[in-house]
Amino acid sequence: MKKLLIPAILLVVVTVVYHLLMTYDNNFPYGRMRETPAVRPYEKPILVMEAGLVPVGGGEALFRAASPDALKSPLDAGDPGVVEAGKKLYLTYCQQCHGKAYDGNGTVGQSFAPLPTDLMSPHVQSESEGQLFQHISYGIGGSGRQPALATTIQVMDRWRIVAFVRSLGVRPPS
Ligand code: HEC
Repeated sequence: MKKLLIPAILLVVVTVVYHLLMTYDNNFPYGRMRETPAVRPYEKPILVMEAGLVPVGGGEALFRAASPDALKSPLDAGDPGVVEAGKKLYLTYCQQCHGKAYDGNGTVGQSFAPLPTDLMSPHVQSESEGQLFQHISYGIGGSGRQPALATTIQVMDRWRIVAFVRSLGVRPPS
């Protein structure tokens, strides 16, 4: 009889603990991941665009294929708000390479060959809006080290950066 006492106590303890845990779990007030709706990939049918619709966004392929001269900014580059917003974006996305003074002396860029371009050089300042937009978006061909930022920066933010870069003008001779 004594031999059975310990297993019997264990059984009781395990049963009690199990029921306590289940009660706690059943009354758990917060959402459980397994109870929230989950959609597996392709479980929902892929949306099909109605015939006759023309996409107004996501035209990245069109921007890439466009001739740079045909590519015009939809923003008013003379608007100080646009330029100011472009400056903020520059600080986030470009400054680390092109530098605080826009001369290409950023902290990150110094290991690059070629080095980041001076954005106030006559070369950059003579580029059209479309050229700048494409260089920022898709990089520069050949040995170019300019990163392609199309998937990093939204289209309109890229145009804001273009407006800001063009507002810098050519660096006055020192
Ligand atoms: C990771 C570093 C890096 C970042 C970030 C970066 N650039 Fe550059 N950029 C470079 C380098 C390096 C070059 C020069 C490479 C070359 O000539 O191909 C360059 C070249 C350029 C040029 C010269 C294009 C030309 O026609 O020669 C422009 C304009 C430019 N960058 C603008 C920008 C702007 C605006 C941003 C932010 C949206 C930016 N870059 C972010 C490294 C960077």
